[in-house]
Amino acid sequence: MKELVADFFNHVGEGLKIAEGIKYTGSKTFKNVVITGLGGSGIGGRIVSQWVANESQVPIYSNSNYSLPNFVGKDTLVVACSYSGNTEETLESVDEAIARGATLFCISSGGKLIDLAKAKNIDFIQIPGGLPPRAAIGYSLTQLTVLMKQVGVAQFAPFKEISSACEMLQANLDEIKATAKSCAEKIHHKQVVIYTEAMYEGVAIRLRQQLNENAKILCWHHVLPEMNHNELVGWAGGHKEIAVLNLRNEDEHKRTKERFKISGEIMGRHTDNIIDINSKGSSRVQRSLYHIHLGDWISVYLAELRKVDPIEVKVIDFLKGTLA
Ligand code: PA5
Repeated sequence: MKELVADFFNHVGEGLKIAEGIKYTGSKTFKNVVITGLGGSGIGGRIVSQWVANESQVPIYSNSNYSLPNFVGKDTLVVACSYSGNTEETLESVDEAIARGATLFCISSGGKLIDLAKAKNIDFIQIPGGLPPRAAIGYSLTQLTVLMKQVGVAQFAPFKEISSACEMLQANLDEIKATAKSCAEKIHHKQVVIYTEAMYEGVAIRLRQQLNENAKILCWHHVLPEMNHNELVGWAGGHKEIAVLNLRNEDEHKRTKERFKISGEIMGRHTDNIIDINSKGSSRVQRSLYHIHLGDWISVYLAELRKVDPIEVKVIDFLKGTLA
């Protein structure tokens, strides 16, 4: 998995080339967008929907369930993402989108999803197979971002934005890996909780999922300001076993910065393990990619410390097999 994390930049480069082949032929007058997918395939939709939310003229939602929200209908664009193309929840949501007359676009490496797209003349883009789905984030983020631009939802230039983010990451790679390694050492043997500001929640979810699947640990995430209104109270009583990873960004609301400070003082009475990880980058996309890449490294370094295989997800395979 370490090699695959290091390959992120090649995946992005190749992903951008593949994205040149995106030919969206559907309606451009939709009233809302839903990106649907699970796990390593759903997270790209969570992140991209937050990237474009502020500049989009239409609401954009991410969905990780069998069924689609009630509002989905003829005026909806549904983007279905499944790396394998065989995830039952995603396939069922695609059937539902077809039944409700929504416009569809599919992103996958193959499987039933691509077969269905070909059979029903649905627009799709096929990405290379053979990776653990979560390691294909360089592909899913690029396809989704370019698609959102092509359908008129994203205003920023994806090629320029993502390429310059990768340049920034590569220029800071030694520091990113050193920070990730030291974070992994600090959180080893601890229970981990990740906090970030709400507009970056997708990035926190990505890190949580990577720690779950690659490092094989339980952990949770929450966002500010919301956690100040509930979870912070749960810190009472001492929690030395918990390590906090705060994913901090320079564009946080000024009151959120204050909230992080005061929350840190409160949590600091109960744990010595609060780690702030400040992103770098001049845009939300760049800052997100900084934390995503750094987090991916944390997950593989932690897997190494825990002596677990970051690639295998036998439990997910068993569950899918049992349900089949
Ligand atoms: O990373 C993983 O292996 C999982 O989180 C999968 O992405 C998830 O089970 C969904 O499968 P797929 O990505 O093939 O739709």
